[in-house]
Amino acid sequence: MNLPWTLKYKPKTLSEVIGNENAKKKILQWIKQWDRKPPKKRALLLYGPPGTGKTVTVEALANDLDMELVQSNASDYRTAEAVQRFAGRSSRYGTLFGKKRLILFDELDGITGSADRGGLRVITKIVKETSSPIILIANDAYNPRFSTLRKSCQLIEFKKPTKTQITKLLAKICSLEGIQSEPDALKLIAERANGDVRAAINDLQALAQGKEILRFEDVAWLRSRDRKEVIFTTLRRIFYAGSITGALRAAQETDVDLDMLLEWIYENLPYHVKDPEELAATMEMLALADVYRGRIATTQDWSLMRYYIDFMTAGVAASWSRRSHGWIPFKFPSRIMTMSRSKTERDMLKAMGLRIGRKCHMSADRAARDVIPFLRVIFQNDPKIRENLAKWLGLDEEMVAFLSSKK
Ligand SMILES: Nc1ncnc2c1ncn2[C@@H]1O[C@H](COP(=O)(O)OP(=O)(O)O)[C@@H](O)[C@H]1O
Ligand SMILES: [Mg+2]
Repeated sequence: MNLPWTLKYKPKTLSEVIGNENAKKKILQWIKQWDRKPPKKRALLLYGPPGTGKTVTVEALANDLDMELVQSNASDYRTAEAVQRFAGRSSRYGTLFGKKRLILFDELDGITGSADRGGLRVITKIVKETSSPIILIANDAYNPRFSTLRKSCQLIEFKKPTKTQITKLLAKICSLEGIQSEPDALKLIAERANGDVRAAINDLQALAQGKEILRFEDVAWLRSRDRKEVIFTTLRRIFYAGSITGALRAAQETDVDLDMLLEWIYENLPYHVKDPEELAATMEMLALADVYRGRIATTQDWSLMRYYIDFMTAGVAASWSRRSHGWIPFKFPSRIMTMSRSKTERDMLKAMGLRIGRKCHMSADRAARDVIPFLRVIFQNDPKIRENLAKWLGLDEEMVAFLSSKK
């Protein structure tokens, strides 16, 4: 089964939740108070950036303490009555089998529109009277909408786990998946995620799943492209378009380079379109789009542009049933990866050439051509000389790794 790794490796106990030691401690202290009598603040308000573990912490807590978790999120908040129905009853009575109950209002930022005032007022009231502990979660606790509610809550901030903590988690997942990984590759994914653990795990899955080994060069291109969310959204809007014009609009409203978009669609279609005949039909559309791309390139007749776009988007969407088969991660086009790999390689050679040239009194080009091949042989065979030479030439870690790799 193709499970998202964020689910597969979701922490089951508090000790597996990375970072946020302080928050976890405070939550435990607060919940322990309930054993005697309800504390002064009967609700916690957890807040902080997305993907830092707010929801999983509450789930793990309930699991650790064997409590029944009554959970609701944004979609349950449409009207004040709905909120009342959900929480009113569960906050008043105990459970049938004597388990203690923990009530969670997740994604409070999602209460909007007509349910807004009413819903929040109901929650505030429930918090004051509840006989079971309540935990509330919001990204932004200081939104003025929460000002009344906030007064009845103890606030606990969730912070972004550090790059090191995230890297370690990624390494653990790789080893559980039986994937070898270069530390620098994981470090880069962690760094790009900027504290969002969910994003880091999703990236890892997209980049590493199915591989035996995840190398730095497989992820290096993340450095230059941080717009993958935009690309993923665009792809989803084209593949699973609600209407043909919807697919067309997806391409018009994105600033993704069209040739790049074609690569992404080409690479990902086979994973989504399972029926062979449908797949053939969608590929046929891509081929037509490619024909027009070629014509535009040779004739410079830009009026052909709309056929190029139409075939690639509306044409593809119209050629299959657009039924999704569970959750399928998007894959990074291998052709783009190769392109960016050779670009990084060129940049690296140039940078090294400059440093070597300075020391050896020759041009960067000549250093790259005449010296680097020999350095490679030396670096791969003699760690001691490697260290000394690298120091003398002023090569950084990445350069040393590059010269020492056997490819
Ligand atoms: N601190 C963390 N430790 C371990 N995994 C985490 C952590 N934060 C997020 N995750 C991963 O990301 C997913 C989403 O986390 P979640 O708790 O829903 O984030 P939030 O509620 O803060 O937006 C989880 O299922 C888990 O796989
Ligand atoms: Mg959440």
